[in-house]
Amino acid sequence: MSTLAVYPGSFDPLTNGHVDIINRGARLFDRIIVAILVNAEKSPLFTVEERVDIARGVFARQSNVEVDTFNGLLVDYVARRGANVIVRGLRAVSDFEFEFQMALMNQRLNTRIETVFMMPAEQYTYISSRLIKEVFSLGGRVHGLVPDSVEERLREKLQRGRIGAPGLASPGEGPSGG
Ligand code: PNS
Repeated sequence: MSTLAVYPGSFDPLTNGHVDIINRGARLFDRIIVAILVNAEKSPLFTVEERVDIARGVFARQSNVEVDTFNGLLVDYVARRGANVIVRGLRAVSDFEFEFQMALMNQRLNTRIETVFMMPAEQYTYISSRLIKEVFSLGGRVHGLVPDSVEERLREKLQRGRIGAPGLASPGEGPSGG
């Protein structure tokens, strides 16, 4: 049986921590779908189209990595895609509580889907999308922490005045998935 895994998240933006988890997932599973949540309630820095574009660019040469979007319940999307595994990244103990709750809720919603936690390489354990946006907006260097394409797009947004204002960053999002 081939294993199809889904790595869900906000990815606003994709970080090298996410990339590391996706690469690990792509080695472990036959195929991995990076599933970007379309969430109208949050006010993301990057549009869903931009986030899809970024991820597709980064994984263009990896045939077993697919980039897709989803809305509604994650387990419904996973089942619809014929997948049986949800991948989430764990960086630190602080991630654990929320991830544990989500994994058990998803298990209750669909007993056939397993959540698998993966750890990113140590150098990425402190990175989150929220911190990237905050540091960049305040003039800090994020080189090496995000793909080059993300850095370029952050720079464009800064030039257009889309970032830089206080309160830019929205909470959450790290290699756990978003
Ligand atoms: O990158 P994030 O924001 O940590 O990702 C969170 C995500 C997208 C995995 C989570 O919010 C999610 O699964 N949302 C879809 C709606 C859903 O199924 N909610 C119940 C989860 S227990």
